[in-house]
Amino acid sequence: MKGKILVTARSFQKMEGPHQEILREAGYELVGSPLDRPLEAMELEPLLEGAEAAILGLDAVSRPALEKAERLKVISRFGVGVDRIDLRAATDLGIVVTVTPGANSVAVAELTIGLIIALARQIPQHDRQVRAGGWDRAPGSELQGTTLGLVGLGRIGSEVARRAAAFGMRILFTDPAPPSADLVAGLGAEPRDLNELLAESDVVSLHLPLGEATRGIIGARELGLMKRSARLVNTSRGGLVDEGALADALRAGRLAGAAADAFESEPPGDNPLLALGNFVATPHIGSVTVQTTLRMGRMAAENALAVLSGLRPEHVVNPEVYSRKQLRAARA
Ligand code: 8YV
Repeated sequence: MKGKILVTARSFQKMEGPHQEILREAGYELVGSPLDRPLEAMELEPLLEGAEAAILGLDAVSRPALEKAERLKVISRFGVGVDRIDLRAATDLGIVVTVTPGANSVAVAELTIGLIIALARQIPQHDRQVRAGGWDRAPGSELQGTTLGLVGLGRIGSEVARRAAAFGMRILFTDPAPPSADLVAGLGAEPRDLNELLAESDVVSLHLPLGEATRGIIGARELGLMKRSARLVNTSRGGLVDEGALADALRAGRLAGAAADAFESEPPGDNPLLALGNFVATPHIGSVTVQTTLRMGRMAAENALAVLSGLRPEHVVNPEVYSRKQLRAARA
């Protein structure tokens, strides 16, 4: 045995396949997490002990945990978001952090479209009502001819744009990292600033990473700019939205509906949004499909193995780690 690899990403852990096999064939022992939810930093800390690599889900990774994990050479995210990882600490300690960009874009985009339609036709509400013996038919709203505002037109946002365009939606976007002119022209998407986008859209969908600049980007003021008939969809990160302000807007009928696959705290516990009939919730399933689990799993496993064998994988989020003397992995 070459050592231990900690796997906390639950779908990676639960689904057997080549992503697990290549790690075992390379001589590593896979050790899982005992908890069926993202871990807090203190919970992750003891599990990292003795691990050469960690394939992580949405767990919190703190500096003290990394300082104690003396053998750890690579954190391979099973996913793209690194908002819960202390990247500075990883870099200082010579630990490479990798992600799996593109692997989950289609899955997240398809869920986003699903939630847009669920809200427009009140599918979950109708389902609950029929089960309760009712047969009331609330008039829905068609997507064709309506406007979708994408906050973020990166890999996932642009996949959503392609699908929404096929439904006949007009696409507006805003993005702090402007996409290429070719991409924008190909999608037929129109640029707007955030305020204009919020005021013009019938559906607003969030596709930004969570960071200093984006935390709480949709608060009471921004919700107040949206049409009363509009809907908000968040398949990115709960922290992008002020959840209390969203609950207030939905309760007061200042917004027609909202759906979220991501919450500030996961699972969301007694979040006020969950008490509202015009709110639809899913448990961060955006990338949880069979195809994406296998694709993303393979990529995460390959990223980890590359670092462990002294190679430099393509998708490193802290490349400055390679210029540090104390890089923990061997250099090829
Ligand atoms: C999760 C995600 O990583 O890519 C991300 O950042 O949020 C998801 O893909 C995945 O569900 C594992 O927890």
